[in-house]
Amino acid sequence: MRLSVIGCGYLGAVHAAAMASIGHEVIGIDVDERKIATLSRGEAPFFEPGLQEILTDGIASGHLRFTTDMAEASGAEVHFVGVGTPQQKDGYAADLSYVNAAIDGLLPFLSPGDIVAGKSTVPVGTAADLTPRVEATGATLVWNPEFLREGWAVQDTIDPDRLVVGVPAGEPGVTAAGVLREVYHPAVAKNTPFIVTDLATAELVKVAANAFLATKISFINAMAEIAEVTGADVTQLADAIGHDSRIGRRFLGAGIGFGGGCLPKDIRAFSARAEELGRGESVAFLREVDAINLRRRDRAVDLVVDAFGGSVFKKNVTVLGAAFKPHSDDIRDSPALDVAVRLHGLGAWVTITDPAALENAERMHPQLNYVADRDEALRGADAVIIVTEWDEYRRQLSPQHAGELVTGKVIVDGRNCLDASAWRAAGWEYYGMGRP
Ligand code: UDX
Repeated sequence: MRLSVIGCGYLGAVHAAAMASIGHEVIGIDVDERKIATLSRGEAPFFEPGLQEILTDGIASGHLRFTTDMAEASGAEVHFVGVGTPQQKDGYAADLSYVNAAIDGLLPFLSPGDIVAGKSTVPVGTAADLTPRVEATGATLVWNPEFLREGWAVQDTIDPDRLVVGVPAGEPGVTAAGVLREVYHPAVAKNTPFIVTDLATAELVKVAANAFLATKISFINAMAEIAEVTGADVTQLADAIGHDSRIGRRFLGAGIGFGGGCLPKDIRAFSARAEELGRGESVAFLREVDAINLRRRDRAVDLVVDAFGGSVFKKNVTVLGAAFKPHSDDIRDSPALDVAVRLHGLGAWVTITDPAALENAERMHPQLNYVADRDEALRGADAVIIVTEWDEYRRQLSPQHAGELVTGKVIVDGRNCLDASAWRAAGWEYYGMGRP
């Protein structure tokens, strides 16, 4: 099939390359000339496992092309819209200007029978607002939310847990759902659940899923706060409640909380949208989810400060991690970097290292000391804090080896990812999050 993908950021670039890898003819379109030039050379503009390979193959085979010219969308049967919906500068609501610009730019090149498939995360009701403009061209607007996780984006796109397509009522909707089944043929052939809904439900599925995940993380972090005043261990608690299959162990990782380009902004945008709909109280708990999440960053900073008896002034603190999570170079709303910046603000000499996100972090916060080599970063530290659970720190760093490099054997485990007893046995003062 011939597909266009409007917006070649995280979502769009991965989607375009993944669709080409399953046999479609894909044109990726973006207004950013530099991004298009990079992608056209077959270079991944960000770190994402597997992306480089499918980009290279797609470009080499000629099935995947990138352009800044929206006119090249014409002739495609399905147009995916995957532009960003960032948080507005002056509030919590989502900024829909990129979505509107993408749709308006696409309209002149649509033909009757085309399908426009929105993938961006949008406030519920957005698709209904956009529908008249799209339908005036004879095309059909559907909403096909994306659930990809950074670090697993290629796999999540080609082989997702489920596919959700929101369609308009009547024949055009039925036809469009059938076309989307063809687009996602490998997943459909594997009997991946393919859920057809109305437009509003599809939009809500995405924000509800992210709100649930954020709530799950903040729930366990709230338990960590209780554990901290009672001497209980939140990781054992998570293991124990996680065995209940109705609860499940995943996303019960207590620590410095969630960040990234999705969960924080999506729960805020959801709250803002619910307020607009007169149902703010229905999701009032999301404010609490956000507040708990941010408190955990304070807690991590306090643990370091307390380890020095109340002040980190002129102490060498090595921060392991900058990305908002492992397998990513993304630092958007990264709790890791936030903790590092706060320690710096308290007068510590902060050295930060990360296997993938160092350049992005340095561009954003040039005041910190960046060291690419992990061992070099550890040398002479008075305390160490692990804030992104990369394997390089979690599995491949032994407490004995680290102990030979540092000046002070103090470790704060901001992700509860280390074996506390092994670190203590090696002479370290170990502090976890919600663990005695
Ligand atoms: C998320 C959703 O998972 C994905 O479905 C959606 O499409 C986009 O948003 P992503 O932002 O890539 O994906 O990251 P995710 O793996 O969900 O992690 C989010 C944050 O939560 C990270 O900062 C991570 O460190 C944190 N987290 C995750 C925890 O603090 N504890 C956990 O148990 C799990």
